[in-house]
Amino acid sequence: MKPILLLSVLFGLVSGETGIDGWLRYAPLSSSHVKGHVGNIPSTIAVLGSTKGGPLDTAVSEIRKGIHGIFGRTVKIASKKNACHASNTIIIGTVEAFEAACSDFPSGNQLKEDGFWLSTSHNSVKILGQNERGALYGAFEYLSMLGQANFSNVAYATNPSAPIRWANQWDNLNASGTHGSIERGYGGSSIFFDGVGHIKDDLSRVPLYGRLLASVRINGIVISNVNADATLLNKDNLEGLSEIADLFRPWGVRVGISLNFASPQLLGDLDTFDPLDESVVTWWTDKTDEIYSQIPDFVGYLVKANSEGQPGPITYNRTLADGANLFAKAVEPHGGIVMFRAFVYDKLDWNDWHADRANAAVEFFGDLDGEFDDNVVVQIKYGPIDFQVREPASPLFANLRKTSMAIELQITQEYLGQQCHLVYLPPLWRTIFDFDMRVDGKESKAQDIITGNVFNRTLGGYAGVVNVGTNQTWLGSHLSLSNLYAFGRLAWNPAEDSVSILEDWTRLTFGLDDGVLETITSMSMASWPAYENYSGNLGIQTLTDILYTHYGPNPASQDNNGWGQWTRANGQSIGMDRTVSNGTGNAGQYPNEVAAAYELPETTPDNLMLWFHHVPYTFKLHSGKTVIQSFYDAHHKGAETVQDFQFAWAALKGKVDKERFEHELYRLRYQAGHSIVWRDAINEFYRNLSGIPDEAGRVRHHPYRIEAESMKLDGYSIIAVEPAETASNYTAIVTNSTGTASTKLKFKDGRYDVAVNYYDVIGGRSSWELYINTRKIGTWKGDMEDKLGHAPSDFLDGHSATRITFRDVKISKGDTLLIKGKADGIEQAPLDYVAILPEGVID
Ligand code: GCU
Repeated sequence: MKPILLLSVLFGLVSGETGIDGWLRYAPLSSSHVKGHVGNIPSTIAVLGSTKGGPLDTAVSEIRKGIHGIFGRTVKIASKKNACHASNTIIIGTVEAFEAACSDFPSGNQLKEDGFWLSTSHNSVKILGQNERGALYGAFEYLSMLGQANFSNVAYATNPSAPIRWANQWDNLNASGTHGSIERGYGGSSIFFDGVGHIKDDLSRVPLYGRLLASVRINGIVISNVNADATLLNKDNLEGLSEIADLFRPWGVRVGISLNFASPQLLGDLDTFDPLDESVVTWWTDKTDEIYSQIPDFVGYLVKANSEGQPGPITYNRTLADGANLFAKAVEPHGGIVMFRAFVYDKLDWNDWHADRANAAVEFFGDLDGEFDDNVVVQIKYGPIDFQVREPASPLFANLRKTSMAIELQITQEYLGQQCHLVYLPPLWRTIFDFDMRVDGKESKAQDIITGNVFNRTLGGYAGVVNVGTNQTWLGSHLSLSNLYAFGRLAWNPAEDSVSILEDWTRLTFGLDDGVLETITSMSMASWPAYENYSGNLGIQTLTDILYTHYGPNPASQDNNGWGQWTRANGQSIGMDRTVSNGTGNAGQYPNEVAAAYELPETTPDNLMLWFHHVPYTFKLHSGKTVIQSFYDAHHKGAETVQDFQFAWAALKGKVDKERFEHELYRLRYQAGHSIVWRDAINEFYRNLSGIPDEAGRVRHHPYRIEAESMKLDGYSIIAVEPAETASNYTAIVTNSTGTASTKLKFKDGRYDVAVNYYDVIGGRSSWELYINTRKIGTWKGDMEDKLGHAPSDFLDGHSATRITFRDVKISKGDTLLIKGKADGIEQAPLDYVAILPEGVID
């Protein structure tokens, strides 16, 4: 036996990690963690029932890699002959192969498709899958135990809650506008497409992605944007698609694509795409057969039809079910599935009090229940609008009894800080999973509907919009990867607890140090409530700019347009009246008990009050606060919470490798600043609209700030910012080349943090220098576009507004503060204000 590597490395810390292995680092454990257990790590592995290049082969190499990484030991392959009786061995295989070679396995019948059995008894380990994929999942489970120094003896079977556990990538074949080649992607460009219409030559990231997905039991992936490009179906691209499928197959991940409904016309030479037209049916049948001839395990299609400009069956007066069934029939002989999205809505008349986009899904799909073929799954976004920070569960979940359903979650943080704000999403998802629809007056949680249990459906499951990109961190930020990990875990078992998932992920990703675990757990668990507080509380939605990048604050953009993400805020009152008695009737789309509760403010929880009710700003909530005061308080509280993240993370210096430490520190500092941008913009906006001051006197009262426009300017000029509330005092300063802004400080002698609010727009990398008298305090650049992956902005607004803080600066009364700005490209070294902050003050 080889001696265990003497590890100098503490807590599984490896220097300079890029994040490319995600939570599958197999970092060495410290000797204190492995002490007394090394003898229980089997030295051989016996494989039963593997097919060449299949998931079992993968499982074996993964186990060998893992044990080598964690313990520095080489696991030998046992000969097949005595596989069943070998001691000190990991037996891995399918139940069927085990029964054929060894003996009956009574626990085998507990397994459903993709399920597995895992037993670890001292140095003998058994991993048996219902199929090869299940065995691979079992291997990852075993490695997850080892990676966390969990050497307990276990014996259990586990099964997926539902058969569909898919990732949805919104990757474009071509680069599109400012969004790069992934729609709502913040982690670089596509790992599949080259941005000029083809599948990439270099697909080396694909198996690495497959590995991550398999380890959390994701069994399918749709690789192309729902706003679909018909040219994916051309001959060359289908060949490329087949290569991608080959790379995912060893990981048990089956490949599918999004379809453009008009493909027969766009790509073929038909003059119609009517789903009931014979030539169209033939076109799709032939195309589907062609795909399956190259990819026999192709998983199926995802379709966005008649939504946001996408073509669909309604163009020909056919139903959405006609559209879905067209594809269902084409894939059915091959065992494929059609995921048909319920995200169908029309633009609405803002002047119609009764109009409501939240009603659209039930209106479009409710009457079609029972008309979909069995291999159609209606894929429903978790809430009725669009991935907002808080929504009730979509009422459609309770309205389809004879249709299979999947829930669509978004791992990419489109409305939730775009991977530049830490937002751990499972607590949000839990509110949906646990949402009890009370169908027929009985408990019917959304999670039990999705799994098919409530309405006895055999298909069903989960689609996670992922948008992994070429960035080494996969999603643009190391910490946001917990959301991908958790998505897989919850798709397997939606009843799992957000904290325990997070703890597993943290240990595997950052090692076993208790301080690291405690910090990441408490920060992550606080992150979604904080984000809700500073972006949009009381169910008003994420008050972001819905007409532009969906990133920073712009509450006015919600209203007065056809998009239907309305707040209906006016000078006196706010909120969507979704009651049956006086509003849009949306509450009535829920089963009776839920409908009755949401019909009245008295029985509507505060966190959905403005989702369901239009009330005065002075309306008293259950909390005892008025709506407006709750806005002010929540926005302050949310921003305050995230100020601490940067310090908590900074305290982990030396416990997290430098590369990942610095990367996250930068982001958490940025988030701290941007949360203040959010706080001030929202509070200022509603202060203006309502005319009601903050009882606590914080809103519009900034005693520690010096507005840039009030400084002595040389080479800088003053401009109005739009939306106004995204600048302190509504104005900023800009320069065409170089400029200075200076002021005499009137604060008493002491040490202060100096915060500077500026704007970092795309298309330029301005630079700034900050001086106290002649002492240079710091310099910085407008280069967020190189460092943060959020959707960029060309303007001075809530997306580009940024805050940098210099800590512990010595200041004496009468000192001169001076900022030098140098413009670059279209970025005019813009400045908003400076805040001179005594300890403990956030202004
Ligand atoms: C959101 C998102 C779009 C996306 C759409 C969808 O509206 O902003 O980019 O295409 O959802 O889910 O289809």
